[in-house]
Amino acid sequence: MKILAILGSPHGLRGATNGVLSEVLAGCTGEGVEIETVVLSKQKIKYCVGCANCLTKGACNQKDDVAAIHDKMREADGIILASPVYLGTVTGQMKVFLDRCLPLGHRPSFHGKYGLSVAVSAGFMDVPTADYLLGVLIAFGVAPVGTVCGIAAAPGLLEQQDVVVAYARRLGRQLVTAIREQHEYPETGEQRRAHAFFRDLIYKYRKFFKADYKYWKEQGWLTLPQAEEEPQPSTTTDVPSEVDEQALVKLRSMLEAIPQAFDPSAAQGLDAIIQLVLHSGPKTLNWYFTIREQKCQGKEGSVPNPSLLLEGPAETWVAISEGRIDGAQAFVQGDFKFEGDLQVLMQFSTLFSSQAGS
Ligand SMILES: Cc1cc2nc3c(=O)[nH]c(=O)nc-3n(C[C@H](O)[C@H](O)[C@H](O)COP(=O)(O)O)c2cc1C
Repeated sequence: MKILAILGSPHGLRGATNGVLSEVLAGCTGEGVEIETVVLSKQKIKYCVGCANCLTKGACNQKDDVAAIHDKMREADGIILASPVYLGTVTGQMKVFLDRCLPLGHRPSFHGKYGLSVAVSAGFMDVPTADYLLGVLIAFGVAPVGTVCGIAAAPGLLEQQDVVVAYARRLGRQLVTAIREQHEYPETGEQRRAHAFFRDLIYKYRKFFKADYKYWKEQGWLTLPQAEEEPQPSTTTDVPSEVDEQALVKLRSMLEAIPQAFDPSAAQGLDAIIQLVLHSGPKTLNWYFTIREQKCQGKEGSVPNPSLLLEGPAETWVAISEGRIDGAQAFVQGDFKFEGDLQVLMQFSTLFSSQAGS
């Protein structure tokens, strides 16, 4: 088992950040555990110049130590990002390195790896910084084990040392256990939204993000009808503005989450297809849910003869989902119209009883 720590402190192994990191690593004990710490200040790391070659062609033109660090990350089972807090966030050393990690976020491939983050500050912005670092790991596909923060105004001045040491070691042990036992972490709404955002971005600009597009296609992550090579007349129509596109990204995420709110006990004996037709500016988004054998599946697109068709403004749908508008009232007022089986319409709110999708 390989654990790789990446340290962004200019003080390197002498700094307060490594004081906390080394306690995490002390907790990473066990047979066969190999640990390596990469001190970024000792590496040759050039700035990202924003050429986007990594996204379009799949490789970076810069010649330095970054590719070798990426290889170490690929080989690791556990990855730790550790940084002091500088001006409310990570140090320049860490940020310059993370900028160069852009393709790891655009083409996430670290699924099956586990990670955690360490942030040390003089007492301001340590938690957001640790969360930021963990968020970066999550974007790469890493499963998040946790974060640990320390307060130290200078190297050697770690406050509440006993508490921090105990917590850091425990987190280290948890990392090793998570790797050994292949712990599963539930996907968060944020992760789902990030996935949907990148899916739509990469598809929309597929002629530019060529390397990303190829990768997402190979992974089977572009499975929605709107993500096929040819335009699908039955899904979205017209060319959207940037604003419409953003609204649609949010709407798709909400619709994707709806089956999670499905209550199978409310669907006994029900065999139905519910078609949604949602209008947003010049666009129409079609989405349907198949309810069969007490299971619910959602998909973008249209079906010819749904049991129930609901049509109206996307904004109203979002407002209903977020509880800002009463669904029944929206139908009474004529904001939303329906066709088909009234029985299924009456059942709708009990079928999707939890808050997912909002
Ligand atoms: C340029 C600079 C900016 C800093 N900004 C912050 C800050 O925004 N918030 C904070 O609490 N501490 C800040 N600090 C203090 C460091 O985060 C703190 O001393 C930390 O322990 C340094 O870790 P190190 O010993 O590993 O370098 C800053 C220190 C420096 C040198």
